[in-house]
Amino acid sequence: MGKAPRARASKQRTALSQERIADDVFEHLRRENLARWPTGAEVDLDEAVAFHRSLPQHKRLSWVMRQAAAQRRCLTQPRGGFGTLELQIELMRTLDDEGLADVVPTTTDSYTRNEQFAQAQHGIEESQRQGRSMLNGLPIVNYGVTACRRLIEAVDKPAIVLSGTAMPKLTAEVGLAAGYTGYLGSGIAYTVSYTKQISIEEGIRNYQYLDRLAALYQDRGVELHRRQPGFLTGTNIPPSIAIIIAVLDALLAAAQGVRNYGLELGQTLHLIQDAAAIQVCGELAQEYLQRCGHHDMFTPVISLHWMGAWPQDEAQCAALLAYGGTLAAVAGAVSVTTKSTHEAFGLPTPAANAEGLRMTRMAIYLARNIRLDGLPELAREKELIQREVRPVVDKVLEMGDGDVARGAVRAFAAGVLDIPWSPNRFVKSRVLPARDADGYLRIFDAAAMPIPKDVLEVHHERLRARAERERVPFDHELAVNSVYEISEPLARLAPSVWAKH
Ligand code: 5AD
Repeated sequence: MGKAPRARASKQRTALSQERIADDVFEHLRRENLARWPTGAEVDLDEAVAFHRSLPQHKRLSWVMRQAAAQRRCLTQPRGGFGTLELQIELMRTLDDEGLADVVPTTTDSYTRNEQFAQAQHGIEESQRQGRSMLNGLPIVNYGVTACRRLIEAVDKPAIVLSGTAMPKLTAEVGLAAGYTGYLGSGIAYTVSYTKQISIEEGIRNYQYLDRLAALYQDRGVELHRRQPGFLTGTNIPPSIAIIIAVLDALLAAAQGVRNYGLELGQTLHLIQDAAAIQVCGELAQEYLQRCGHHDMFTPVISLHWMGAWPQDEAQCAALLAYGGTLAAVAGAVSVTTKSTHEAFGLPTPAANAEGLRMTRMAIYLARNIRLDGLPELAREKELIQREVRPVVDKVLEMGDGDVARGAVRAFAAGVLDIPWSPNRFVKSRVLPARDADGYLRIFDAAAMPIPKDVLEVHHERLRARAERERVPFDHELAVNSVYEISEPLARLAPSVWAKH
């Protein structure tokens, strides 16, 4: 595409809002987007819709998630991507056969996530030359619709695209046209956790495109599963902050016409806090969706194995994997996204990835009938989280005069929305979390987030209790060492735990 049409299009750009992108504007945006790489020409919406309609129910992630929720089951899903189609087919088959994965993944490589398709092409060629993956995922845009469809046909399970990016527009067109029935990612969460320079506005716009595309399929009778990605900052995120962003991303997706939207939450590793978070996340998403007039959005909650730093010892990792399965099952998560004993070292081999799935699955089986309903501590934690989330979401809506997109941009600028250790320069990152005396993730410093004083007092009291017990100052070091704690070698970790009793 030449320079003139692009300049014209950007001048026509409407002010940011949550409004559903108009048909003619979207048509124009799609044409422009698909022209950015040769495989864009392969995308034929009618053909793609026909292919999706030909898929059996059990290969449609939207249906599989609804079934799991109705039957109170907890699905397992790994991550995984290699640099060539052949390696990817082998990986997806291994995760299916040996890992018994309920959902098979395709993670894209970093070049694709950054829309550097020429470099991705080079990576494919290098991988082929060396006979091993030289990329950290599959470049699905380079391969294109027809080639990627071989992956969908290779496995009798639903498949999801995992592309940790704030720029999903071409990956989504190709992936969905190929027959992937799920796509992970959202405008706010990915922009604040993966990018430095991309503004909140740009990230929101990019995902409005993807959500509007999902709605285009929906209008043609194909329900796709869209999913909010939780946080991948590799640090601690208190549940309330994750839930605030999940609710806002869900409202943005709903406004574009999405009806099947998963909400991911990273595990805190506190059984009760995770159960409370998973339940409150689903409940508050529905509360705000209803309040904004979205009465038929399905919002299953997905639990993520520990997203912070992992230990280097495989035995410690195995405990984290199994415990993570237990947490997800007991909390009532509809699915759990798994890791492996290789997490500290890089990408897992297919066999290790499959083993992580089986460890998790066994733990889910063992915990399948256990629930914490009625436990006073669970009720207390749920109420606490609700009292953190509501004032912030309400303030965002107020700041946007009812418009979530505008409200989010303004709220980040004011620090009303804030994310610990975000790499993004449009986020203040003054808020600081830390683990308290009982193992809950708390807020040490709320900075400008409008969290009620009496709620923060509860957090501070328990954090002070930890500082006293460990004989360390009540300062930001509490936040920092909470980030590394889980990755410590067992011999170093244990004494402080045993000393308590
Ligand atoms: N294969 C398997 N796992 C991957 N992850 C990222 N890329 C891949 C891949 N190609 C996982 C890692 C990382 C998490 C965000 O995603 O576990 O920590």
